[in-house]
Amino acid sequence: MPGIYIHIPFCKTICGYCDFFRSANLTHRGRYMEALHRELDATRDYLPERTIRTIYFGGGTPSTIEPAEFSSLIEHIGQLYNICEVEEVTLEANPDDLTDDYLAQLADSPVNRLSLGLQSLHDDELEFMNRRHSAAQAENAVRAAQRVGFDNISIDLIYGLPNSTTERWRQTLQRAVALNVQHISAYHLGIEPHTRFGTLRDKGLLSPVSEEVSYEQFDLLRETLAQNGFEHYEISNFALAGRRSRHNSSYWNDVLYLGLGAGAHSFDGHSRRWGVENLSEYIAHSDSPEIYTVEQLSDDERYNEYVMTRLRTCEGIDTEELLQKFGAHKLHFFEQRCRPLLDQKRLENVAGRISITANNLLISDSIICELFA
Ligand SMILES: C[S@@+](CC[C@H](N)C(=O)[O-])C[C@H]1O[C@@H](n2cnc3c(N)ncnc32)[C@H](O)[C@@H]1O
Ligand code: SF4
Repeated sequence: MPGIYIHIPFCKTICGYCDFFRSANLTHRGRYMEALHRELDATRDYLPERTIRTIYFGGGTPSTIEPAEFSSLIEHIGQLYNICEVEEVTLEANPDDLTDDYLAQLADSPVNRLSLGLQSLHDDELEFMNRRHSAAQAENAVRAAQRVGFDNISIDLIYGLPNSTTERWRQTLQRAVALNVQHISAYHLGIEPHTRFGTLRDKGLLSPVSEEVSYEQFDLLRETLAQNGFEHYEISNFALAGRRSRHNSSYWNDVLYLGLGAGAHSFDGHSRRWGVENLSEYIAHSDSPEIYTVEQLSDDERYNEYVMTRLRTCEGIDTEELLQKFGAHKLHFFEQRCRPLLDQKRLENVAGRISITANNLLISDSIICELFA
């Protein structure tokens, strides 16, 4: 069953590391939400299936928008699709937006899963990243969400921070685990062009951590979360039993999805498309096909995507499924390419399932490239 992703590109301030499509100009919010409703109507025939399984409000910062606006969008989705079987409605939120009043309204809405960007539980690191909240505020936001009844909460953390240490990462992890959340996404810092961190790096004022430190912190992450009952189910994602992100798991399992909003991606099984990354253009033309760039996927591209997304997960690739989807010729190609990586123990084969060995997940991109057609 497909999912619907809705992009809310507004942020009150911009974090030093972030290159997601977002804008600090909040004045467009009202017109943007109206444009989303128009796009929803205009794309009603995009998905071949009418029953929706997951809805995800991502950003940017969705919590810059009032809960009633989400309820209204979900109601509108319900007029076009069957949402009786929706299992998960996630909202990404920044801790500083989660006042008691906001949380009480959210608890009354169809949102049943929160994804909170904590990033670190050290004040100086948060300040360095230009986050708007302190560590205590972030912890209080999680507790406040739990108090109003949210029992499916994910938090985002970032490791591999310059100016930090593995000991300080251990402290963040221990405080994060003590919050009793159901899901943790932990990302190694990427220093991207066109961000404040990228500029600092170009000026020689910021250096990425060494490979050795990256591995040390990744190993600590895996060990600490495993000891606390979290399953490592995707490179950056850890969940308690039954609490994997259903929406994001769809992306890794070829499930169809409709993306709404500026820059949002959609997949209908044959092609991908994404909306224009420009607020004024999106608002003016959200009900017109001209806002999309469409990419038809060739067989090789579909195979590459399959390999890339599946190898990011702990389940890896079922060779029988690969045969069914892409035929004997591609399976032969895949097996040939896997052989040296299996010998080097970068990949493992467990009962016909090929996956990246746990201690190599941090360099998954370079391994996956070796298997591309
Ligand atoms: C779409 S962002 C938004 C979430 C929300 N606006 C917030 O900041 O809390 C999702 C997550 O991606 C991660 N992220 C974004 N850029 C990153 C980068 N350059 N390196 C590592 N993690 C990054 C952060 O953990 C962030 O919380
Ligand atoms: S990390 Fe979140 S709050 Fe910060 S700029 Fe990116 S989307 Fe906005």
